[in-house]
Amino acid sequence: MKFLVHTYGCQMNVRDSEAVEAMLLAAGHEKAAGEDDADLVIVNSCTVRQKAEEKAVGKAGNLIAAGKVVGLMGCAVKRMGEDVFKRLPRLHFAVGPRAFGLIPRIVAEGRYPRLELAEDLVPGCLSAHVEGGWQAYVTVLLGCDNRCSYCIVPDVRGHEYSRPAREVVAEVGALARRGVREVCLLGQSVLRYGVRNQAWEDGWRGEAFPRLLRALSEIDGIERIRFTSAHPKGCTDELIRVYRDCPKVCRHLHLPVQSGSDRVLAEMGRRYTRAEYLAAVAKLRAFDPEFAVTTDVIVGYPGETEADFEETRSLMEEAGFDNAFVFKYSPRPGTRSAALPDDVPTAEKERRNQVLLDDQEKRGQRRNEALVGSVREVLVEGPSKRNERRWSGRDGGNRIVVWERAGSERAGDFAKIRIVGAHPQTLIGEMA
Ligand code: 5AD
Ligand code: SF4
Repeated sequence: MKFLVHTYGCQMNVRDSEAVEAMLLAAGHEKAAGEDDADLVIVNSCTVRQKAEEKAVGKAGNLIAAGKVVGLMGCAVKRMGEDVFKRLPRLHFAVGPRAFGLIPRIVAEGRYPRLELAEDLVPGCLSAHVEGGWQAYVTVLLGCDNRCSYCIVPDVRGHEYSRPAREVVAEVGALARRGVREVCLLGQSVLRYGVRNQAWEDGWRGEAFPRLLRALSEIDGIERIRFTSAHPKGCTDELIRVYRDCPKVCRHLHLPVQSGSDRVLAEMGRRYTRAEYLAAVAKLRAFDPEFAVTTDVIVGYPGETEADFEETRSLMEEAGFDNAFVFKYSPRPGTRSAALPDDVPTAEKERRNQVLLDDQEKRGQRRNEALVGSVREVLVEGPSKRNERRWSGRDGGNRIVVWERAGSERAGDFAKIRIVGAHPQTLIGEMA
């Protein structure tokens, strides 16, 4: 059967989709060239905001209408449960975020409709990777136990579960042998690795995640190690020591702040204050002034006043974020904040969103200009979409660097690029 997987949402979903592809390929199926060519299309859904869910469900609906065998997987399936077949009456199958390992069997049996919301993982499903390429995502922590008031993730992705360190080290070793040079470790709050369940089998009582970074740094062939997402509570002295000791660990942290107002942070249940958050950023930048810090922010949380919003604005300036993703609050069924009136009008959410994006544009420009003249170690990704002669890659801080191709570069290699120009989200360089 020829199949295609469409992915919505975060890196977790990108990773789960890759695992599904790898399992279907191993079962003898073939990847379709495009939608027209596909017999089976799987849509991996997100439900973090209502719009995200609508996009995935809408896509699945269109594919059903086009006569494909359609499966829906991921977060929206878990949120809807059996109602998924009310929204999509002719959907063939639906699997929750931890049940994707069942897809090859479901497809082989061909008994539809089918709904699988099982919490237990099919053995091996987390380590299935598609061959080729030099970058890979590796899931290390599943689920989330933080229970922020606005967030549906704990309901759909379940309790935190840290994969055994032994398994992660073996997986990254296997990837390295296949030519992978950069790994990105995934978890909703990845610094909580090994907190809820023991990750190291030798009874290790120290910090489990920094130890994992040290172990992965030892693997030959792996040149860069990234991870996402982080929480300021995880920015410990030991993590800083790892950055110091392990040059393969990239000096970039995605540290979602959500708000700069202590009142809103407390209502959200974020478990840090504005000052604590800023102290974590200061610690990273004291260690390395070029340390890249990126973030997520929500505007228009219930009861967010103009003064709260201004606190967010000033926090973003103080933190000097290298990049920021701004989201308009969207109430999600079953979350604590869904019980509160969604009282910031849409137009006002839109305005706040735009103000933060404009601020970030200026800040990004300023921060990138400060790097002009420096030489960055860039991992080459390939030609840019618009101009074949321009190549792009990323530096350790995850900054996009674009340069005129010299000719000798190859995707997956390191190149030294001198920065000669700056845009808010891109550095312009030349081969050094
Ligand atoms: N409304 C808007 N944004 C949300 N996020 C999570 N839940 C919501 C919601 N209900 C944002 C957070 C998170 C990012 C992945 O999505 O900023 O970090
Ligand atoms: Fe979307 Fe969150 Fe699920 Fe990722 S974990 S796909 S952001 S709902």
